[in-house]
Amino acid sequence: MLHSATESAKKIFAPTSNSEDPGHATQYNKGALDRDDLLPSPTDQFHKWFQEAQANNVYQPETVTLSTAELPSGRVSARTLYMKELDERGFVIYSNWDTSRKASDIRSNPHAALTFHWRELERQVRVEGTVERLTSEESQVYYDTRIRGSRIGAWASQQSSVIESREQLEKRVEDVEKKFHGKDKIPVPEFWGGLRIVPDMVEFWQGRPSRLHDRFVYRKVGGEENAKGIKEAEWKIERLSP
Ligand SMILES: Cc1cc2nc3c(=O)[nH]c(=O)nc-3n(C[C@H](O)[C@H](O)[C@H](O)COP(=O)(O)O)c2cc1C
Repeated sequence: MLHSATESAKKIFAPTSNSEDPGHATQYNKGALDRDDLLPSPTDQFHKWFQEAQANNVYQPETVTLSTAELPSGRVSARTLYMKELDERGFVIYSNWDTSRKASDIRSNPHAALTFHWRELERQVRVEGTVERLTSEESQVYYDTRIRGSRIGAWASQQSSVIESREQLEKRVEDVEKKFHGKDKIPVPEFWGGLRIVPDMVEFWQGRPSRLHDRFVYRKVGGEENAKGIKEAEWKIERLSP
């Protein structure tokens, strides 16, 4: 497992792009995170940080890396997506759940992780949890907000399948357009829709100077039944070493 590359073989070595001190890595000094800053629920805390990201013009703060792992091989895969919804239960993304790699990974293993990076605020949020599909009715609500071309595209693309050519894809789009010609309301494909990542761990990371960052992790510790007999999650919050 241990391989050493010769100095000349390294294509990139310790780049310090954008650092004010070209000899050393960028320092993080935009903020600090304290235990007293944190709300009891990680989704509320996430919402607070998301609003701060929007207020500070973070470019597309909904951009997130979704990591999944196939079993039994254990091979991990990751890709960029958009988080489209947040509710009390968790983080919702939309995709193809038939042919994509994430779909096949999740069929074998319901665990997934999300990573948000808000560079402008020197913040990262990590989420780990299990996944659940939204119903077609729920997915239809978001699907209806998409422009027609994207709704057609979801039908036309067997996401991540090998195709012969761009023309083959465009032909599929044409066929779907014919199928729904004159129809305003397009049903959401049953192979496409929302997936909620229900967190059992959420970590908030604030960059600090000298790599002595502030990190707090929320871990789910079961739940007490409320008056309606519903188990509500309780979250234990701990500071992590940078
Ligand atoms: C900024 C950005 C946002 C993206 N958003 C989505 C998305 O919301 N849903 C989606 O299925 N793919 C999205 N993609 C494409 C995915 O990264 C990926 O190519 C696709 O989901 C297939 O991945 P898979 O086969 O590993 O599942 C996005 C890509 C980028 C760069």
